[in-house]
Amino acid sequence: MSTNPFLDPTLVHGDLYRGNDRLADRTHALHRAKISGSDVADTIAHLLAARVPRGAVVLDIGCGRGTTTLRLTDRLRPRRLFAVDASVALLRTTRDRLGAAGALGSVVCADFHHLPLPDSVADAAVVAFCLYHSPTPGLAVAEIARCLCPGGTAVLVTKSLDSYGELDHLVHAAELDPHATSRPSLYESFHSGNLHTIVAKNLTVIDVHHDEHVFQFADATHLARYLITTPKYRITLTGGIPNLAEALQQRLSKPPYTTRSTVSYAVAVRP
Ligand SMILES: C[S@@+](CC[C@H](N)C(=O)[O-])C[C@H]1O[C@@H](n2cnc3c(N)ncnc32)[C@H](O)[C@@H]1O
Repeated sequence: MSTNPFLDPTLVHGDLYRGNDRLADRTHALHRAKISGSDVADTIAHLLAARVPRGAVVLDIGCGRGTTTLRLTDRLRPRRLFAVDASVALLRTTRDRLGAAGALGSVVCADFHHLPLPDSVADAAVVAFCLYHSPTPGLAVAEIARCLCPGGTAVLVTKSLDSYGELDHLVHAAELDPHATSRPSLYESFHSGNLHTIVAKNLTVIDVHHDEHVFQFADATHLARYLITTPKYRITLTGGIPNLAEALQQRLSKPPYTTRSTVSYAVAVRP
C-alpha cells in the first residue's frame, strides 16, 4: 500500500469517493475561498470547443459529480457523451444532474485503465483531476488514446506538486500533525511537472498551459471545513469541524489564510 492516500486503492475506491459528501464539501470550501484563477470547467469547454465540432462523441473520464460533464453538454452539444467514473455514487449524481438539465449523456462505471468502449469511438476526451489516483497514469492515457479516433482531441488537467503547500505549514504550526510538511504531495504521480512527458508517450501534445489559483480562507471554520476533507494529514483531534476550527483559531495568527495551486492543462491529439 502506498503512503500517499491518493494512490491507496482502498481509500480511492472507499472513503474518498464512495459517497458524494466529501468531494462536494471539499469543492464548495475551495470555491468559496477562490480569489483568482480561471473556472476549470469553462476553460476545458473553451479548449475543446476550439477544436471539436458540434455533434461530436465526447468522453468525460473520471467525471466525479459531473460539473465539467454538464458544461461540455452545454458548450459542445455532443451527439453522444459518456461520463465515466469508478464511483457508483458519483455517477448517480452526474446522471441526476444531466437529467435535471435535460442533457443527453450516458454514465459508465469503469476503471480508466480498462474502458469498456470500442477503439476509436470518440472525437474528444476530458480527463480532469483523476489520473493522480493512478500509480501508472501512462497506462490510463494509452487506454484513453485507444478510444479516441485518429485526430481526436484530449484535454488532460492536473495540479502542481506544491498545491496547497501553505496549508501544510498551517497544520504543522497548529500542532495538528507534526509530519504535515514532510508528507508526499497528493499529486505526485501525475502533476504539472510530468504531465507533458506522460501524455506525449501516447498522444501528440499541442499545448500545455498553467494557471495559478489563489485561495483565501476567511476564518478558522472555513479552513477547518476544507482541512477535514483532505486525506493528506493525520489529524487526531476529535469533535469534527467545530473543535478543529477552535484549535486553529487558538493556535494560528489571524485569518485570512492564503494558499495556492497551479492548474495545468494539456491539449493533445491522437496521431
Ligand atoms: C477529484 S475527482 C475529479 C472529478 C471531476 N473530473 C472534476 O474535475 O471535478 C476524481 C475522480 O476520479 C475517479 N477515479 C479515481 N480512480 C479512478 C479509476 N481508476 N477509474 C475511474 N475513475 C476513477 C473518482 O471516483 C473521482 O470521481
